[in-house]
Amino acid sequence: VVATPDQLVITQGVTQGIALACIALRSRGVERMALEDPSHRDEREIVARAGMSIVPVPVDDHGIDVTALRRTGAQAVLLTPVHQFPTGVLLSPERRAELLNWLGSGDRYVVEDDYDAELRYGGSPIGALQGLRPARVIYVSSASKSLIPALRLGWLLLPSEFVAEVAEHKRYADLGSPSLDQLAFADFLARGEFDRHLRRLRVPYRRRRSALVEALEEHLPDANLLGIPAGLHLAVELPGRDEDDLCRRALNASVNVTGLATHLIKARRPATLLIGFASNRPDVLREAVAQLAATM
Ligand SMILES: Cc1ncc(COP(=O)(O)O)c(C=O)c1O
Repeated sequence: VVATPDQLVITQGVTQGIALACIALRSRGVERMALEDPSHRDEREIVARAGMSIVPVPVDDHGIDVTALRRTGAQAVLLTPVHQFPTGVLLSPERRAELLNWLGSGDRYVVEDDYDAELRYGGSPIGALQGLRPARVIYVSSASKSLIPALRLGWLLLPSEFVAEVAEHKRYADLGSPSLDQLAFADFLARGEFDRHLRRLRVPYRRRRSALVEALEEHLPDANLLGIPAGLHLAVELPGRDEDDLCRRALNASVNVTGLATHLIKARRPATLLIGFASNRPDVLREAVAQLAATM
């Protein structure tokens, strides 16, 4: 990212960051927000509650379909470019270039949810879109995935002409996020502990994801594993099956997975399970996949 302290507004997570971004965009006359389809169902709700109408844009293996985005005529888009939620795909370099092109050809904005950027288990780190077009990108991130969601600590990086208005909205929403938490986090960062924490975290998470992938390849060979090695969950496509039925069977076998369909807006996709791996040991994941396969 390209950042100076005066562009930064501390928020209560990405959730409040997106809500504040929507308010600022609306006051500039942007009334329709394009959203990836699928995208997190909460994001849809946050945008709608901020008074914007939602324009779904399909996602494929390369990320959001920028040609389809262009056709919608929407002036703003909310994106998870590095690890698309929930499919887990990466916005390809070609699509990035197309998106920057789209951004440059009018009075348009990207709201960039840098979801899972710190949690990559292969390849080099990926720069934010914000770093390429700081005047057109509202960048949103939080400590929810890298530390703990209960902190409710997030940050917005804003184009300079948005800062005063967003800061004012934040002030009248809650008089500011808790200062003690911010001081503790700043100290954690300054001492290099956050970097060390991330490096430590990636080791078991990578191992857990690999165990899940291997177990799926062994027990469910017809499954199609989506996305890149990153984040806290894996999206697993099981074509020809019924998603609700799969979730019910999983639950009966005490395996807690969710279906992707809840995050679809208009798009239709094959049955897909979202399997969280970060909080389970490799042996637990292997056992869970064996149980899941046994129910099918
Ligand atoms: C796509 C996406 N972005 C961001 C977040 C984090 O939200 P917050 O920072 O408000 O906890 C989540 C949490 O579920 C998410 O799914």
